Amino acid sequence: MDLLDDTDGGGEGAPARPAEAAPRRKKLFVKSYGCQMNVYDAQRMADVLAPEGFDETARMEEADLVVLNTCHIRERATEKVFSELGKVRELKAARAGEGLGTTVVVAGCVAQAEGAEILRRQKAVDVVVGPQSYHRLPELLAESARAPVVDTEFPLEDKFDHLAQPSPARTQARGPSAFVTVQEGCDKFCSFCVVPYTRGAEVSRPMAKVLADARGLAQAGVREITLIGQNVNAWHGLDANGVESSLGALIGAVAAIPGVARVRYTTSHPNEMDAALIAAHGDCAALMPFLHLPVQSGSDSILAAMNRRHDAARYRQIVRAVRAARPDIALSSDFIVGFPGESEADFEATMQLIGEVNFASAFSFKYSPRPGTPGADMDGQIDEATKSARLHRLQALLEEQRQAFNAATVGKICAVLFEKRGRHAGQIAGKSPWLQAVHVDGPASLIGSLAEVEIVAQGPNSLFGRLTGRNAQAQARAAAPAEGGAWR
Ligand code: SAH
Ligand code: SF4
Ligand code: F3S
Repeated sequence: MDLLDDTDGGGEGAPARPAEAAPRRKKLFVKSYGCQMNVYDAQRMADVLAPEGFDETARMEEADLVVLNTCHIRERATEKVFSELGKVRELKAARAGEGLGTTVVVAGCVAQAEGAEILRRQKAVDVVVGPQSYHRLPELLAESARAPVVDTEFPLEDKFDHLAQPSPARTQARGPSAFVTVQEGCDKFCSFCVVPYTRGAEVSRPMAKVLADARGLAQAGVREITLIGQNVNAWHGLDANGVESSLGALIGAVAAIPGVARVRYTTSHPNEMDAALIAAHGDCAALMPFLHLPVQSGSDSILAAMNRRHDAARYRQIVRAVRAARPDIALSSDFIVGFPGESEADFEATMQLIGEVNFASAFSFKYSPRPGTPGADMDGQIDEATKSARLHRLQALLEEQRQAFNAATVGKICAVLFEKRGRHAGQIAGKSPWLQAVHVDGPASLIGSLAEVEIVAQGPNSLFGRLTGRNAQAQARAAAPAEGGAWR
């Protein structure tokens, strides 16, 4: 449970409550699948439900309200939701046996894609709500007391205007690194992808609103802001002077907020890497040297069939430009193997691109045909065994590159933003500028701040370091927080 949450009521010095005290606070369990957008949305759902009397729990068994925030990106992701719902149904029945009610909400991209079909497949579900409607959860929960309800509208109002802001204590409980949605939806229609259907058209949030959210987070002690969007670098908006600006300018404005020491952004499309954004990697010290830039394939004919609207040469050119602006930048990407029509030569072109670019990390997937997308109906679907063999080879190369990148960090001195306690006593864990997990022996009082670390060793999934004793916070130009960060 969120012990720092100031919505718990009571509080020191509060007068004793009369016997007929306020109604019992209820427990909320939220499980999120898929991308960062869902992680962010899950937090905002908890924010919407806090004033309705719900406190978060990590234990589904004790929850009065279970929310599954779902992902539809690959078949396996969708199937996982239905198997999880089977478990939720059993739990609901067991709790009913004890006289306890349980409300079940399916949110996110499966909710948007499947709508009422979810109620048909799983009777235990009370509410189905899409990613653009979850600000209406309080009303939907009230309605569901009478009958199950589905809301998969793309409403005209801006959901962000209706979302309760998290309290400073709630923000602090979430740690010193926070997401801010700046852009939602996608108009790109890559031929393999469901996102344009589940998240709707590309919309940018106004700069002033993004900055207001970022300021609130920084005042609560957040040190690192990751600007997120399905196509985050398609963001555009007017600055304070009414000048049309793109993500590079927004990053600069967020970096200028007192207390913000680090800025990141994800996920980007190669076609939206404009000159201002590339330049920001060189000009803005707070913009971390890490770029996740999905390429999917290194073959021009597959890129064309995927409707990515750029070729492999264009990707290489962007990589060169970004590296020229910020030589120590770590690159990351997404890959799909076994897209319809992918020949051995196409696959080799992807391996070639990986060999040339050298990625610090990556996500890679077997192509999963999704109902309603053009790719699902294309000729030349690739058999499972070929997909598996290709994925295996591709992942071996990417893993080799990841390990080599991590090995090259050993011996370096860098700032680490400490986020939590490590697994062992006396250990704390945080992130390097290149988004690597770093563990050091150090005091928990450092959690929530930046400190300078010498990287001394490499583990399979993280790095080990030693505090140098110098204050990296000052180096990173971060001002003191308005209210002290309290992550212990
Ligand atoms: N907006 C981002 C990615 C969103 S989805 C972009 O344009 O890059 C995240 C990743 O899931 C994609 O980059 C892609 O690699 C993968 N993906 C999407 N649809 C897929 C499918 N049908 N099969 C396999 N992987 C898929
Ligand atoms: Fe999907 Fe392509 Fe849009 Fe990314 S850009 S969300 S892969 S359609
Ligand atoms: Fe999945 Fe929806 Fe994100 S389909 S990847 S949760 S946008």
